[in-house]
Amino acid sequence: MKAFVTGAAGFVGSHLCEYLIERGLKVVGIDSFMDYYSRAVKEANIAALKKNQNFRFIGKSLLDVDLAKLLDGVDVVFHQAAQAGVRASWGNNFKIYSDNNILATQMLLEACRESPVKNFVYASSSSVYGDTKDLPTKESSLPCPVSPYGVSKLAAEHLCSLYCKNFGTPTVSLRYFTVYGPRQRPDMAFHRFFRWALEDKPLEIYGDGKQSRDFTHVKDIVEANWLAFRKAAPGEVFNIGGGSRVTLNEVIEIIEEIVGRELKIRYRGVQKGDVRHTMADMTKAEGKLGYRPKVSLENGLRTEYEWIKNSAK
Ligand code: UGA
Repeated sequence: MKAFVTGAAGFVGSHLCEYLIERGLKVVGIDSFMDYYSRAVKEANIAALKKNQNFRFIGKSLLDVDLAKLLDGVDVVFHQAAQAGVRASWGNNFKIYSDNNILATQMLLEACRESPVKNFVYASSSSVYGDTKDLPTKESSLPCPVSPYGVSKLAAEHLCSLYCKNFGTPTVSLRYFTVYGPRQRPDMAFHRFFRWALEDKPLEIYGDGKQSRDFTHVKDIVEANWLAFRKAAPGEVFNIGGGSRVTLNEVIEIIEEIVGRELKIRYRGVQKGDVRHTMADMTKAEGKLGYRPKVSLENGLRTEYEWIKNSAK
């Protein structure tokens, strides 16, 4: 079995490559090292992988390679690559989002038409729902993104459905709910909070801290990808959440317990593009994939703290 993983040097992609190799697959990983955050962080994510003979790495953009050639002999595609970041997706930046999230997905789907790929798992996002009032949110809830990033992820998800309907490309979309854990991107909340705690700086919270998220540990996300590959029917869309919804203020209390002291907080303005609440209804993922998140928020936060402490050394 051979897998093609896009965004292989990123947060989720690198964990996924390791998981697939542990299960005996050969993996071709591609990553363009976009400069949204440091290349050194991404190089560190794949340092161990690069030593594995079942892993082949291509340091290029999906926009600049011969995809048909790369897909030769590939059984399954895990499309994790994207320009990430909800709050950074306004203004001139949008071209980066439309090129890397929409156009790159369309090119990959086109290339799959000529290849024998048996499964195509697309990393979608809870941001497609925007400020929905349906909580917990079912997959059938009307998507209505509130950030340009969410628009780009939804557009790519629609492309996946279109290619499935028209050309039989076996796409499955997983709507990830705020992923955290070791290797979390440096712009994301928990990564920043732990770093600030270690540097004894105040934690900056956008808004009143009463916004809530269904935070999902990266281990559960990787498992969901595997289940989607093994069990999902083509054309399906699934919510993949962590199983509990908490406010940022509640998270801070857990972080204080983990670091063993009270933390200084500085409240800042609400950021445009941020949704207020997310919560996944996972009836469908549980029923059709057997997906059930295993990592509790407290245990998961500890894994991220350990990683940040070690990488700061
Ligand atoms: C995350 C990812 O960054 C997106 O790529 C992904 O698509 C999205 O989840 C999703 O689930 O669809 P977000 O929920 O904004 O987006 O994740 P964080 O960056 O961890 O932010 C969580 C909350 O903490 C937000 O309300 C944010 O405003 C807040 N935050 C973030 C702060 O209060 N301070 C910070 O310094 C950073």
